[in-house]
Amino acid sequence: MNWFTQSRFGMFIHFGLYALPARHEWCKTREAIPEERYDLYFRHFDPDLFDARAWARSARAAGMRYAVLTAKHHEGFCLWDSALTDYKATNTPFGRDIVREFVDAFRAEGLRVGLYYSLIDWHHPDFTVDRMHPLCPERLKWKENGGESDPEIVALNAGRDMARYRAYMLGQIEELLSRYGKIDIAWFDYSYPGAFGKGRDDWGSRDIVALARRLQPEILIDNRLDLADEPGGWDFITPEQFKLEKRPLVGGRAVTWETCQTFSGAWGYSRDEDTWKSPAQLISLLAGTVACGGNLIMNVGPTGRGTFDHRASEALSALGRWTEVNGRAIYGCADAPEPFKAPAGSVMTWNPETRRLYVVLTEWPMGRLRFDFGNRVEYAQLLHDASEVKIRERPGLVNIGGGHEERVEDDAWEFILPVRKPPVECPVIEVFVKSGAAGGGSL
Ligand code: GLC
Repeated sequence: MNWFTQSRFGMFIHFGLYALPARHEWCKTREAIPEERYDLYFRHFDPDLFDARAWARSARAAGMRYAVLTAKHHEGFCLWDSALTDYKATNTPFGRDIVREFVDAFRAEGLRVGLYYSLIDWHHPDFTVDRMHPLCPERLKWKENGGESDPEIVALNAGRDMARYRAYMLGQIEELLSRYGKIDIAWFDYSYPGAFGKGRDDWGSRDIVALARRLQPEILIDNRLDLADEPGGWDFITPEQFKLEKRPLVGGRAVTWETCQTFSGAWGYSRDEDTWKSPAQLISLLAGTVACGGNLIMNVGPTGRGTFDHRASEALSALGRWTEVNGRAIYGCADAPEPFKAPAGSVMTWNPETRRLYVVLTEWPMGRLRFDFGNRVEYAQLLHDASEVKIRERPGLVNIGGGHEERVEDDAWEFILPVRKPPVECPVIEVFVKSGAAGGGSL
């Protein structure tokens, strides 16, 4: 677990046949695309510009320390040469084992590797039709209950056998976790329990976890197998597209967590989707996540040619420019302990080893920034250029005319900053805390 919480920043890669329709990885079910029509994407899958080393280099340059690839997403298409299906990359015009090239290239670049495996499978003939299946009639789609006994669904499910599908999953997970060397993360996705959905018994979740831990004793497993209450059923929680404001608690206990986020609205390559986050938003998402003691896994959906499109590349470069000089605010950092509170317009991280605080300025202040832990500060500097940031005491008084002062707030301190923002996104103040001067037991 230590490498994971030290790393803080990873890359998610959603790659599959859905790169071709380029309009969301859920399009098969959203548009109820029939198998024969979806098959066109299989027959035309040929990411000729795919270069796993280029992907790995750009992940590393962005400051990411690990990556997770969708070995199989909900559409059921497999990126590796599985012996258990024909529905795989090696049977397309492309003909290569993408998982193999991914793990080799990312490891060579010094990154940890993880594999995402979809529990959902809209291609496998034994996977029963439920409320999210492409074959589910519109009138029943997304309905939590009742659909399972509808005569149309019963007819569709005659002959489908989840026990066979469970055996298929175990076989595939065994392939993925035994053929490719050390796999650091298994990202299973996802459960929607209930009569017209699927949960732990449908997946055989306990068997999946037991198999994964047997084959890869150090593996970290996400929490989407519907084993929330099961000891050892998961290692980290996965808030999706959701920015937390403080460290999450499960049953009153702080847990390891990783938020997964997209640059824009979809996970798979989405040509016309246009809600791309700005560099400043991405940086404050990263720093804000670490400030709550979590990891960020940022997604890229490569195109059907196998490349990162220019919008994703630009976003990654912006993150890289920032982490290159400000990485000390991220790696090995977590939420700051009491009594340190982030000044207004900032998020704050803390490195417990080096005892430094990082004030990430998501808003640039007007020359000075008030804060309340000045008596614990030994020295402060802007992180990107190591230029001193002076601090001074600031009485909570203001001039209300004629030199007459009135108390408007408590006495505090202020960082003295240039009025003009330095030419970096979200500059960071690195604060060296006096040894022994901080409160709170562990300090
Ligand atoms: C969701 C979606 C999916 C995506 C995943 C990533 O559960 O079904 O498309 O892969 O989240 O967290």
